[in-house]
Amino acid sequence: MGEYILEIAYLIASVLYIYGLKMMSGPKTARNGNLWAASGMFIAIIATIFLYTDGSGNHLTNLPWIGGGIAIGTILGYMMAKKVQMTDMPQMVSLFNGMGGACAAIIGIIEFPHYVHDPNASFLILLTIFAGLVIGSTSFAGSMVAFLKLNGNLKKDIRLPFYNVLNTGLIIAAVGLTICLAGGHIHSNIELWVYILLGLSLSYGVLFVLPIGGADMPVVISLLNSFTGMAAAFGGFLYGNMAMLTGGILVGSAGTILTVVMCKGMNRSLTAVIFGAFGTGGKDVVAGGGDGTQKSYKQTNPSDLAVLLNYSSKVIIVPGYGLAVAQAQHVVNEMENLLTSRGVEVKYAIHPVAGRMPGHMNVLLAESNVEYDKLVEMEDINPEFATCDVVLVLGANDVVNPAAKEDPASPIFGMPILTVEDAAHTVINKRSMNVGYAGIDNDLFYRDKSSMLFGDAKKVLTELVSELKGL
Ligand code: TAP
Repeated sequence: MGEYILEIAYLIASVLYIYGLKMMSGPKTARNGNLWAASGMFIAIIATIFLYTDGSGNHLTNLPWIGGGIAIGTILGYMMAKKVQMTDMPQMVSLFNGMGGACAAIIGIIEFPHYVHDPNASFLILLTIFAGLVIGSTSFAGSMVAFLKLNGNLKKDIRLPFYNVLNTGLIIAAVGLTICLAGGHIHSNIELWVYILLGLSLSYGVLFVLPIGGADMPVVISLLNSFTGMAAAFGGFLYGNMAMLTGGILVGSAGTILTVVMCKGMNRSLTAVIFGAFGTGGKDVVAGGGDGTQKSYKQTNPSDLAVLLNYSSKVIIVPGYGLAVAQAQHVVNEMENLLTSRGVEVKYAIHPVAGRMPGHMNVLLAESNVEYDKLVEMEDINPEFATCDVVLVLGANDVVNPAAKEDPASPIFGMPILTVEDAAHTVINKRSMNVGYAGIDNDLFYRDKSSMLFGDAKKVLTELVSELKGL
């Protein structure tokens, strides 16, 4: 009887994951979607603890260990989630993703001794175990490197000599060893070979992410997410656990779709990500001209800008990472409302990788109740820049860098950008002439139609709003 209830609990959990994921596709419902999916996971965990029985009908006996693990994980997760800044979310996502990969790899490490010496163990079962181990440990190691990079603990792009040869060699060795182990072709020192496989996979994970530089981290992060999902799905297949299998497949496929969207957004090919580092083609350029020359730029101030905006008929706002750092989303909404009330048409241009996580700008602006239909995707807004009077770039840098179109030596060359330079006036707000995430100078700042508005986005926009009110 218990096992039927367990299966029904898994079915309910699977339905809740799917329903939750569906709700996550829109900003209005995303929060509740998370709660539905989490409640599915809660049901699956509780049902497994109390209803699972082994072949002889015995319930789980190690409840204090399971309870202790859940308690520690819950407390740590709760504290981290409460404390994390919105701009530090990508690091946390990488860390949590790495933990998922580690769990999937540990399943492989714990289960392989039960099967490798069993002459009845099929190729498929052994392949499931080793594939979960390889993909899970790659995801774990890669996510840890991504975490360190996003957290600023590691230099952005570290490229070893013969990188491509080394990385391709590691993949071939890991795949070959997996097939040999799963096919039962290794008869002595099997344990040693499994740990060599683990070492190869961990090394590949590290080497795969280490050289990723430029602005290409988003693609890697979503790819690592899909790896963890796949590895968890292998675990679900091994245990015949429907909730784990569905959860893994959902994470794996959602991560894969996101990776494809990100690749498209960055104009990169997936094979280039998996087999060779990319985004490392150019040299870092210091602000003010890499050749040592000082380029000149114009400056504006809130008072002059208020007049310009007040007499414009169309204004496009480009939000970026700096807007999130400054937490200026509410004041930008206030400015938008003021301008709209004076007959100015205002829109927001959303680049797919603006900020530090997928959908960062949508989430940020949703916080201040900006209407969704004012947020326009890159392909749709690009033709509109030529028809607008002022573009206000707020804490964005790489996503408006014309080098992506014009300079083949640039690390971001080929990445589609918001073509803000087409507008009559481009005003860029940031605190200094410092570089953005990709670490490269931006020629936009020195162009004739551009003016810099220096200062923290929240402070500057607050001044701008008060100037506008005075007009
Ligand atoms: P960035 O190119 O990183 O530029 C942000 C700019 O904001 C900086 O140049 C900084 O200049 C400015 N800034 C920082 N704090 C500010 C504040 N308080 N007030 C005003 N300005 C401030 O941002 P972006 O244009 O949004 O591009 C995103 C980059 O991150 C891309 O390269 C992307 O590939 C990468 N990335 C994205 C993701 C995802 S999934 N979205 C994940 C990882 C990496 P100052 O220091 O001079 O103020």
